[in-house]
Amino acid sequence: MKTITENNVVVAGGTGNVGSFLVRALLERGANVVVPSRSEEKLTGLRNHLKDPGGTNLDRLFTLKGNLSVESESTQLLNQITDIVGKPDAVISSLGYFIPAPSLLTVDLDDLHSVMDGYLMANFKVARTFLPVLKNHGGTFVFINGPLALNPWEGSGLVSIATAAQQMLFKSLAKELEGTDARVIELMSYAFIRNRQTQPSSTITGEDVGAYAAWLVSDQDADFHGSTIHLRSPDQLKEAGITLS
Ligand SMILES: NC(=O)c1ccc[n+]([C@@H]2O[C@H](COP(=O)([O-])OP(=O)(O)OC[C@H]3O[C@@H](n4cnc5c(N)ncnc54)[C@H](OP(=O)(O)O)[C@@H]3O)[C@@H](O)[C@H]2O)c1
Repeated sequence: MKTITENNVVVAGGTGNVGSFLVRALLERGANVVVPSRSEEKLTGLRNHLKDPGGTNLDRLFTLKGNLSVESESTQLLNQITDIVGKPDAVISSLGYFIPAPSLLTVDLDDLHSVMDGYLMANFKVARTFLPVLKNHGGTFVFINGPLALNPWEGSGLVSIATAAQQMLFKSLAKELEGTDARVIELMSYAFIRNRQTQPSSTITGEDVGAYAAWLVSDQDADFHGSTIHLRSPDQLKEAGITLS
């Protein structure tokens, strides 16, 4: 297993479907993992989830209550993180608020706002909080996104609009930060995960996504700055020499 020797990795959205796989994979590889969340209850739920099966060691997991998408709170969270583990070496942003929309012609506009807040705005604010640190001290920022950003499915209109905008946020930031010490990457996950479980129809597992993301933020040599990586198959892990625990 590739070791991430004591890297400090912040997982925004670490309580979520994809986030919980990211957190487990990072802990298993020796990272200090910080998960901020708006909800103490969700943080407790994450800890209970990670305890079994297999009993991941949670000594290096640091959970903090706070809202990264409120700018005053995000600055405070960054200071807390720095006090607890030191400067972040990497951030993985795995945020979202999925609302199905059978028709864009009749959808409630409040739902559009909620979805834009959950994907675009939350990612924007997390990036604005952490990228200045990564730019000055070096480090990797990974945006998690999904194929709905590229092609809408039935009922995914709102999420497709918001995640397409999120992709342009990634591209714009990667362009702006070219030539700096920050590496900005988009990991497009084709896994299908609900209730923190990989669904039977999924071609790759949450564990694959976690392992791949952990490799991206490790000290591997490849420079993926500005790249969108489409993670569709476990073969891609083999090609990169990534092993699951
Ligand atoms: N699930 C899948 O099958 C799948 C497939 C492909 C790609 N993806 C991508 O993976 C990412 C995460 O998806 P997910 O299914 O894991 O999401 P999720 O479990 O529904 O939510 C992830 C986290 O987003 C945070 N969040 C939501 N709205 C927010 C807001 N307005 N402000 C701040 N934080 C907010 C929540 O954090 P707190 O409540 O803890 O604060 C939540 O834990 C998305 O980019 C999605 O496109 C998911």
